[in-house]
Amino acid sequence: MEAIDFETLEADAYQVMSPGAAAFCACGADDEITVSDNQRSWQDLRLRPHALRDVSNIDPSTRILGHLCSLPIMVAPMGRHMLFHDHGEEATAAGAAEADAVFALATNSTVSIEDVAAQRKSAPQWFQLYISPERAGFSMMIGRAEEAGFSTVVLTVDQSMSGWSPRAAGTPIEPSEHIRHVNLPGSPVARTSYDPSMLDGLSYPATIADLEWLVGHTSMDVVVKGILRADDAVRCAEVGARGIVVSNHGGRHLDTVIATADALPEIAEAVNADVEIYVDGGIRRGTDVFKALALGADAVLVGRPALWGLAVGGGNGVTQVLNHLRGELVRTMGLCGVSTLGEITSDLVAS
Ligand SMILES: Cc1cc2nc3c(=O)[nH]c(=O)nc-3n(C[C@H](O)[C@H](O)[C@H](O)COP(=O)(O)O)c2cc1C
Repeated sequence: MEAIDFETLEADAYQVMSPGAAAFCACGADDEITVSDNQRSWQDLRLRPHALRDVSNIDPSTRILGHLCSLPIMVAPMGRHMLFHDHGEEATAAGAAEADAVFALATNSTVSIEDVAAQRKSAPQWFQLYISPERAGFSMMIGRAEEAGFSTVVLTVDQSMSGWSPRAAGTPIEPSEHIRHVNLPGSPVARTSYDPSMLDGLSYPATIADLEWLVGHTSMDVVVKGILRADDAVRCAEVGARGIVVSNHGGRHLDTVIATADALPEIAEAVNADVEIYVDGGIRRGTDVFKALALGADAVLVGRPALWGLAVGGGNGVTQVLNHLRGELVRTMGLCGVSTLGEITSDLVAS
């Protein structure tokens, strides 16, 4: 992969992907207003750096749920990586492991839980779970993820119904015999929730009772993904979640929903002492990562950029995307006069 600036990488990736895969990766719901808001809200925040500080030793490492990681940047759970690269999630997991970053495997993956687990190095792997009232298949997946050594289960709670993307529906992916949801019962051929034939398709109406059930049913740490309000975050903490991902699913299901940079501060203030807080959506720069930590996040997740790296450079491309963001974060830390993530305080962002 050539030198990496994300604008070029994104353009290159959409050239390499099939038109259907590119539309599925890039799309957001309806008018894609939240997709743009997510990025713009990070960009609109202004930094207030310290001067006259010793920044000769900058360390962006952190502990995520007790595990030491070299960077506070994780790969978000995303379905169907074989649409983007022949080795699918196996390559993405290998690339994340090489960068010492947490990789989150999606329920709707196209590589098996066990094959992904085989790529693990020192950073932990997370398993993203969708849940529905029919629990048997999901229970089985939780057992397999535990057995395969995943440390954390991430329950996604913002897709009780599937949203709609005119862009993705207008250019649907071509179903392929060898690209399947291999962890789902019956291993069905992969389709997306925007496929016109799936209009009445799967949705995942998780309730607080499902979350309580999950906490009691697994030895993995439970993280809840898709929280945008402090009151919901408090309820998650009360029933035993160890972490919250402030997320609007990359703007892919509900359009005009609040940007994550705007939702983060009230949530961090309400629950940061009880649970860890992560955030995703529109994070494209080291300055974005820095701002997220200043607003109260313990770490961030990136979605689409990892898929751009995967499409253009396979596992190596994913490693480069993560190393690039880590490098930008280190530079931002130095220029803001901080040497460790613990020194990134809210006053470094202008209010
Ligand atoms: C192609 C694609 C597939 C996704 N699939 C899932 C999924 O299966 N489960 C989930 O919880 N989130 C899914 N997401 C959302 C991501 O986990 C994450 O919240 C979002 O992409 C972050 O925004 P960003 O892409 O702007 O970084 C998906 C995102 C993309 C781009």
